[in-house]
Amino acid sequence: MATAVASACDREGNPYFDVIGVDLPTAEGAAKVEAINRGELPLTTTDEELLAAFAKTRQMGNLHATTDPAAYERADVTVVDIHLDVLRHDAVPSVNFDGFRRAIRVLGERMRPGSLVMVETTVPPGTCERVVAPELAAALRQRGLPEDAILLAHSYERVMPGRDYFRSIVDFWRVYAGVTPHAAEVCAAFLSKVIHVDRYPLTRLHSTTASETGKVLENSYRAVNIAFIEEWGRFAEAVGIDLFEVIDAVRMRPTHSNMRQPGFGVGGYCLTKDPLLAAIAARDLFCRSDISFPFSQQAVAVNDRMPLRTLDELRRRLGGSLTGRKLLLLGVSYRQDVGDTRYSPSEIFVRAAEAEGAAVCCHDPLITFWPELDREVTGPLPSAKDFDAVIFAVPHEEYREIDLAKWLQGSRPLLFDANNVLSASQREAARLLECPIGSIGRGL
Ligand SMILES: NC(=O)c1ccc[n+]([C@@H]2O[C@H](COP(=O)([O-])OP(=O)(O)OC[C@H]3O[C@@H](n4cnc5c(N)ncnc54)[C@H](O)[C@@H]3O)[C@@H](O)[C@H]2O)c1
Repeated sequence: MATAVASACDREGNPYFDVIGVDLPTAEGAAKVEAINRGELPLTTTDEELLAAFAKTRQMGNLHATTDPAAYERADVTVVDIHLDVLRHDAVPSVNFDGFRRAIRVLGERMRPGSLVMVETTVPPGTCERVVAPELAAALRQRGLPEDAILLAHSYERVMPGRDYFRSIVDFWRVYAGVTPHAAEVCAAFLSKVIHVDRYPLTRLHSTTASETGKVLENSYRAVNIAFIEEWGRFAEAVGIDLFEVIDAVRMRPTHSNMRQPGFGVGGYCLTKDPLLAAIAARDLFCRSDISFPFSQQAVAVNDRMPLRTLDELRRRLGGSLTGRKLLLLGVSYRQDVGDTRYSPSEIFVRAAEAEGAAVCCHDPLITFWPELDREVTGPLPSAKDFDAVIFAVPHEEYREIDLAKWLQGSRPLLFDANNVLSASQREAARLLECPIGSIGRGL
């Protein structure tokens, strides 16, 4: 988002904004700040447009980063994009607002009257009205300023990390709302400079709670759609059909074109937690514990278990036990063409496989170190012949292009396609090589 805002220019090519990215003075925050100031994007991406836009901001000299909150004093607009974790240690999920409140309080203490706070963080619906606005008001009161001296709006990113990372911000429809009509107008004017609203018009909603609900509903809908398909994948495997073929046929109906497909699991920072936010909002922000979200909660539980289905299939196909088995896992990031391992299904898989006594070698073309498991990830693709099974977990381009005859070199490990990674011709090649092959969602 910082790159998108900094690279937005008028017709003459002059940038609209000077952007300062602010992070905490933690080791992680400071590393991001230093990377940006050195001219390096602090994340791994395969998106050439994002790299080009970031390089352009470097040339124009209008994107910097700091850990100094004094930056807020200079801002006309502060975009809040910090994390808000869902705590899932107990049976009942919750959100701890403490860090988020502190961040907002600093904005209230530092920002100028008439400036805009635009919240993009995915939050329990009601957060802007019931958490952010009171926090800003308290800080403004202490400064002797009117409680509404800082404008407040909400607008959510629909960013899709991967090959179209940058475009998914600037070339995509946006929803927004303001706590007051004036805040909504200032928010729309800001977004209109960053997003190509001539092609992707903004949608204004009547309240920030409505806008916050839009984000949570979108992601809950997608998580439920994925969980729903999971049971059909199992059915397809049992009765010997190819569910991907069936889904392609069903998707021909425009009303069903977004049906999801079976796979290895659901990961990343958003889909794994967002479906839990509405229940948290009902209980903690609106005192309505009587309103529940069984579909959304069940979807998260089903999706969490998905990688264990692959494990069950491997155990069954490898003679009933994984003890001492050597497994090669291809893909540890949570999504294709993304170098992010947060809440990756591969983590659930590796922990469970190793607990059963399997030795798992992990490979990923975009990851060299896997922080959640505190281990190096092998760089070059290892030879297949040292393994009992190869699990295709993430459809990174490198795996979709593997020449199996060349790579297998006569070895015949079990090839398990957990995420529709292999093409029909790769699967056919495996059969001709008499290599055992299995997959999620295909019973052929
Ligand atoms: N990653 C996505 O694709 C995506 C898509 C849509 C929405 N979102 C939402 O955007 C938000 C951020 O997601 P992310 O993936 O970028 O998270 P992240 O954890 O990668 O980044 C958040 C950053 O905020 C910093 N931070 C925390 N408190 C701060 C403070 N008080 N002041 C300054 N910096 C602070 C953290 O140190 C961290 O670097 C979340 O609400 C997420 O749900 C993310």
